[in-house]
Amino acid sequence: MKELHEKIVQDGKVLSEEVLKVDSFLNHQIDPPLMQAIGKEFAERFKEDGVTKVLTIESSGIAPSMMCGLLLEVPVIFARKRKSLTMSDHLYTAGVYSFTKKETNDISVSKDFLKKGDKVLLIDDFLANGQAVLGLLDIIEQAEAELVGVGIVIEKGFQPGGDLIRDKGIRVESLAIIESLQNGKVVLTENRDE
Ligand code: G4P
Ligand code: NA
Ligand code: NA
Repeated sequence: MKELHEKIVQDGKVLSEEVLKVDSFLNHQIDPPLMQAIGKEFAERFKEDGVTKVLTIESSGIAPSMMCGLLLEVPVIFARKRKSLTMSDHLYTAGVYSFTKKETNDISVSKDFLKKGDKVLLIDDFLANGQAVLGLLDIIEQAEAELVGVGIVIEKGFQPGGDLIRDKGIRVESLAIIESLQNGKVVLTENRDE
């Protein structure tokens, strides 16, 4: 997606060989027209799939999800992050392992909002190790809902999440794929033939 690629190249800050900072348009300050374009692109790619719910995880997944839900005319649910959960039989809960923090944290979604028969589009801001997507998949299975596919704003192609999810036969649509962050430079996969 050209608009997003340009934004990443212009405003993204390479913090290390593994981390790209995009605080100016996605993770802290949010660029509404860009989010609208991103939502439109996801909606376009999944418009024939009968999506009934968009599911994401707080906080940075919410903005792009919201714009997609607006266009697909379906509700947007964000999984909540919780450090410790009091036992609740009214929540679907899954653990998400963080490789950076080396700890597992729970995410949860109310049973009121995700139901058997729902056709779910998962959206997230980043795909790195894929652990957040796995947690959301677990919740979709608990709800006996159906996964339609995964929409990612920025995939880090050099980390294992993309293969992990695609190897399960899941459709992953990433609007930008970072091939490398070496030498302080962002290399985007599709830039090669643009
Ligand atoms: P990990 O080990 O799988 O990388 O998981 P970890 O919990 O350490 O980090 C996950 C958080 O880091 C997620 O945001 C994810 O979107 C974000 N992330 C992963 N790689 C990058 C990157 O290269 N750049 C940026 N900017 N973020 C990255 P989160 O903690 O859930 O935060 P938020 O959604 O509230 O913003
Ligand atoms: Na994030
Ligand atoms: Na996120």
